[in-house]
Amino acid sequence: MSQIAEVTIDGQNYQFPVIEGSESEKAIDIAKLRDQTGYITIDSGFKNTGATKSAITFLDGEEGILRYRGYSIEELAEKASFLEVAYLLIYGELPTQEEYQKFEHEVRTHTLVNEDMRKIFEGFPVNAHPMGVLSSLVSAMSAFYPDTYDSTAEDVTDLHIIRLLAKLPTIATWSYKKSQGHPVNYPNNNLDYCSNFLSMMFALPVESYEVDPVVSAALNKLLILHADHEQNCSTSTVRLVGSSQANIYSSISAGISALWGPLHGGANQEVIEMLEAIRADGGDTQKYINMAKDKSSGFRLFGFGHRVYKNFDPRARIIKKAANEVLTKLGVNDPVLDIARQLEAAALEDDYFVSRKLYPNVDFYSGIIYRALGIPTNMFTVMFAIGRLPGWIAQWKEMRTNKEPIGRPRQVYVGPTQREFVAIENR
Ligand code: CMC
Repeated sequence: MSQIAEVTIDGQNYQFPVIEGSESEKAIDIAKLRDQTGYITIDSGFKNTGATKSAITFLDGEEGILRYRGYSIEELAEKASFLEVAYLLIYGELPTQEEYQKFEHEVRTHTLVNEDMRKIFEGFPVNAHPMGVLSSLVSAMSAFYPDTYDSTAEDVTDLHIIRLLAKLPTIATWSYKKSQGHPVNYPNNNLDYCSNFLSMMFALPVESYEVDPVVSAALNKLLILHADHEQNCSTSTVRLVGSSQANIYSSISAGISALWGPLHGGANQEVIEMLEAIRADGGDTQKYINMAKDKSSGFRLFGFGHRVYKNFDPRARIIKKAANEVLTKLGVNDPVLDIARQLEAAALEDDYFVSRKLYPNVDFYSGIIYRALGIPTNMFTVMFAIGRLPGWIAQWKEMRTNKEPIGRPRQVYVGPTQREFVAIENR
């Protein structure tokens, strides 16, 4: 028998259907609540609000489970390539060999970016934050592909998907090259996705550059771990913007802006800056634990806590292990890794963190690996964006395919009630 939820308002009983997801998650369907009762719900930060039904990513915050289309994150991170995972997220199934070859070939052969985009890029100041640049340039891409403005045709959208996946790494490397005073590198379509990115980042015209397979494998893993995370802040932004039928480039550009914030993807940059600050301050981790516990300090332990994970973040576990392996393989001895370990151990024994179920999240150790790969701190969130792109695309596509209505929350108005206008000379 299907379940119902009953609500009593002013002595009157109302019934609402309960829906159940494929992993037994339950939700009360309140679509008719206002029509029937005149009431709305309020849920600041959407802590209890399901915005959509989605078949892309499942996560169980209590058990620390994360799966893309049913496949565990542990298995995908170990065995798959990033583009395979991108295909899985966007099209729903792992590609066959033939499908993969076609998809990979298309991404490989769309890496070149219109030269006029470079002119736009050149107008940015040398020290512009790469996330602002990335968001602006992705938005600018819509002007180069105006057929996207009203494209709903599947094949047109597929081409835009390929373009986004192919060109984002190219654009991303420009900011780094400019910050170094180096010429930008063109993509090399003989290279796979990760190697091409690394080569555009680090190759110089004056010497040959060989991609280290350890570095490229580590990058592949990190991108997979970031590839989707259901209805987080940036993904919800992408879906909300897309729900007005804005084109895919504008929607993804908005997602990049949302990701930039320090409470979301920007936390990976904050973590390394925090670890560096602790090191420069003599390495007293307890002092920073105390600061994080003191609400008046305004300081939060970056890389700790998660809206959904209340036991552990499975991505953080994989990344912590990978950080140890990658640093050992590359022979890198990063003193902030020790500080991170001490901070984690101290926090996990501290009642403040334990009682609030605050554990290291995906951003806590990722920066340490990025740093070992040679990626500068202000590019960390850009790396997150490259990883998250297939998730944003998959979620945008799902929302459009399901013909979801425009997203438009309501509010409870608490401002002044009606009053008379007072002419400026009388104020
Ligand atoms: N350091 C100190 N206290 C914290 C922290 C932290 N990192 N995170 C949460 N708290 C406290 C918070 O003050 C509150 O305490 P109280 O109940 O006494 O008021 C309690 O824990 C619950 O926190 P919240 O802010 O209500 O929880 P939330 O679900 O709204 O926020 C979060 C989740 C991730 C924004 C938050 O934990 C945070 O700010 N963490 C640091 C930033 C960070 O690492 N962000 C990356 C998140 S994972 C990747 C991603 O999303 O991109």
